[in-house]
Amino acid sequence: VKQPPLYITTPIYYVNDIPHIGHAYTTVIADVFARYHRLFGGETFFLTGTDEHGQKVAEAAKKRGIEPQEHVDSMVQNFERTWVELGVKPDVFMRTTFGFHKKVVQDCLQELFDKGEIYRKDYEGWYSVSEEIFYTDKDLVDGKSPIGKPVQLVKETNYFFVMSKYQDRLVKYIEDHPDFIFPSSRKNEVLGFLKSPLHDLCISRPKSRLSWGIELPFDTEFVTYVWFDALLNYVSALGYKQNDAASGRTNERFNSLWPHTTHLIGKDILVTHSVYWPTMLMALGLPLPKQIVAHGWWLAEAGEKMSKSDGNVVSPLDVKDIIGVDPLRYYLVRSMKLGNDASFGLEDVIVRINAELANTFGNLISRVFALVVKYFDSRVPAYSRDVEVEKDPMRLELVELAKNLSSKVKARIAKNQVDMAMEDILAVLMKANSYLTVKEPWKTAKVDLSRAGDCLALMLQIICVASVLLEPVMPKKMGELLSFLGLKDRLIGEFASDESQWELLKENDALVQPPVMFPKVEYELGSK
Ligand code: MSP
Repeated sequence: VKQPPLYITTPIYYVNDIPHIGHAYTTVIADVFARYHRLFGGETFFLTGTDEHGQKVAEAAKKRGIEPQEHVDSMVQNFERTWVELGVKPDVFMRTTFGFHKKVVQDCLQELFDKGEIYRKDYEGWYSVSEEIFYTDKDLVDGKSPIGKPVQLVKETNYFFVMSKYQDRLVKYIEDHPDFIFPSSRKNEVLGFLKSPLHDLCISRPKSRLSWGIELPFDTEFVTYVWFDALLNYVSALGYKQNDAASGRTNERFNSLWPHTTHLIGKDILVTHSVYWPTMLMALGLPLPKQIVAHGWWLAEAGEKMSKSDGNVVSPLDVKDIIGVDPLRYYLVRSMKLGNDASFGLEDVIVRINAELANTFGNLISRVFALVVKYFDSRVPAYSRDVEVEKDPMRLELVELAKNLSSKVKARIAKNQVDMAMEDILAVLMKANSYLTVKEPWKTAKVDLSRAGDCLALMLQIICVASVLLEPVMPKKMGELLSFLGLKDRLIGEFASDESQWELLKENDALVQPPVMFPKVEYELGSK
């Protein structure tokens, strides 16, 4: 069966920020979903990028005494570099200061203005600078924004998008498409939010107050509200309202990929993505994305939210320096149930990495390869032809589990249960380790070589299937391991057509003993 395409996006991050473990989580998970989709043979397009307009950026540039464009050009490198270091490979890195994006935003604004979907009105509201959002009296909690940010009263003339008009249609859409917002607890949250009347969305800022933004095409005294600008990056990146064959940004590509969109976001930006954005799309006459997946927050070790001002922000690159890039990716994928919050503590990271990668997977690899080198001349041994061996219930159970592993993982990924996929793979590796311990091939090799060979052949097949299935999560390490298994020249794409991804190794295939794949992390906590 041919896989449908996948267009997966992360939020485009505020370029002013220094990427922390929360940004790294969303981006790594998106990269992992993209790589799984490619592994399973589907066309994949993966977007990340930066959100570069708005008041905060203008203020930061002013503080540095430089032009906003110069400021964002230097800041964006923090993100670009971090993603390279974390093995994240987006197909496009979007920046809202790209010329083509600004043009698409202006074309959309003009279209909506011409259709009467945007109007001008005097306005008074509570503005939160840090969130770049207007609130009404009713929204405030103890004189602050709903998430506790300071607000200021702002009076001005502005342009509004008739968001309220789409309220009923949106509610119906969400009810008719139960998978549109994932997990369902977040869907219920949005439906709850939509029980109160929806206001129209202020989509402009007067230049007198803010000039760092995209000018409204129908009133040069104003620039576009950052969220209206930023959300449109998801369609401008593909080629919406464009026909530029050289860059690949064409309406044709947009039309083929857009219906297959998954927006991966943190729960902090649920409303902008599941209310503002769908109503904007409705007004533009476009279909809605297939799914919005909202994950929880990484909290600091003590359970409080990470924030720059509290100084408890974890840098992904610091953690990477201690444990390595692939173990960090594995930890992020494995340790947060997608949708829930989790706390990030280095001790937990090290304990888990040592238990699951060093002691379980790494140990299995080194024990098996060492024996195959020693007793089988570095070649894949034959399975036993002895019926007694084949009928062994422990062996039967293990083979069954391993054979079904790839279809199980595929089903998990389809349900966004990427953490559970890791659990499934780990369970097989643990079973394999116990099997090895029980069968003691290092002893049997001396008395019954074919029996030892059977055990090791099975272990190699399991290592092989695990390395294929973990390749999206740990691309560097698993790429190396696949080459030690002699599968280097077979592109990962080729595994896609192999339904079971089972028994990719053949008897007598030559192997090379790898160095220690997952060294135990020895690290004094508090030494940094
Ligand atoms: N610029 C907007 C998004 C516009 S998308 C059209 C924005 N940027 S942000 O820099 O604040 O990034 C927010 C996102 O970063 C969250 O939705 C989440 O993906 C990630 N995270 C930031 N802090 C986080 C945690 N502490 N935990 C998990 N992820 C969080 O909002």
